[in-house]
Amino acid sequence: MTARPRVVVVGALPALGIELMRQRLEVDPGPIRPERSWLREHVSGAAAIVADPGVPIDAALLDAAGASLKVVANFAVGYDNIDLEAVRARGIRATNTPDVLTNATAELAITLMLAAARRVTEADALTRSGEWQEEQALLGRELAGATVGLVGFGRIARRVAELLRGFEVLLLVSARSRIAAPSGAEQRELEDLLASADFVSLHVPLSSETRYLIDASRLAQIKRGAVLVNTSRGGVIDTAALIDALRSGRLGAAGLDVYEHEPQVPRELRELPNTVLLPHIGSATGKTREAMARLCVENVLAVIEGREPPTPVV
Ligand code: 8YV
Repeated sequence: MTARPRVVVVGALPALGIELMRQRLEVDPGPIRPERSWLREHVSGAAAIVADPGVPIDAALLDAAGASLKVVANFAVGYDNIDLEAVRARGIRATNTPDVLTNATAELAITLMLAAARRVTEADALTRSGEWQEEQALLGRELAGATVGLVGFGRIARRVAELLRGFEVLLLVSARSRIAAPSGAEQRELEDLLASADFVSLHVPLSSETRYLIDASRLAQIKRGAVLVNTSRGGVIDTAALIDALRSGRLGAAGLDVYEHEPQVPRELRELPNTVLLPHIGSATGKTREAMARLCVENVLAVIEGREPPTPVV
């Protein structure tokens, strides 16, 4: 009997994904954030690697896996952790989990807009402290009637735009190419969007073009007192410049689900009252994580069994 192909699993893939793969493959589950040495050792001779954005997959790791490796399947829509050139050069496939997490992530972006605008973290801390007094006003701002700027206009931003309809916002979008903006929305240059929006929400993948897209000079262009929301990747914002802008009050508040060096969240951000900080939970609903797991597993099995994977990146 020939040995079953082996899949090394790191990252946040839930147990369901492991169970599904065990029916057809030998599964080698590792830590969510493995040491590099663990990964190098375990990928050797593997047919597949399941990873997520917290696990860098570079040329050296692909070489450590060797000729047996057929697919790197990301448990994520984003794939900035994977060196796609190195994957292509070795004739390997790479896959992701788009669409199934669009709504969950879009809902979280809106959650962050509302929570930052209504000072939910400050209000919650006050209530828990037992210091609540009637005259403590904690005045916030409303989303209804505000100008909302979406930076990037892929699937998740489009869903945010749909969900925002009931709030009757003026919607501005910025995208690299000319897009068909939904009715009631206007496409603007990034600088113009930043200067006009009361809420700015980031929806771009991390790449060499978008790293530090929101740097000190762009933060200086943002309308004074605006709310900045990031559910994309931490590296899209220059964190040090963000902290300065929040401290000076130039930026009213920030709602963040992602950070430059996860899982580290800078102390300065944690100490600022005008931040809402979440631990990268954009896709974290039971329904979505299950759908992501099923899609990720389908991608792995398809490549190993010689079929076209449902959602290939390479
Ligand atoms: C993570 C994400 O994959 O889809 C993405 O790009 O960043 C998230 O859905 C998830 O948190 C597991 O790490």
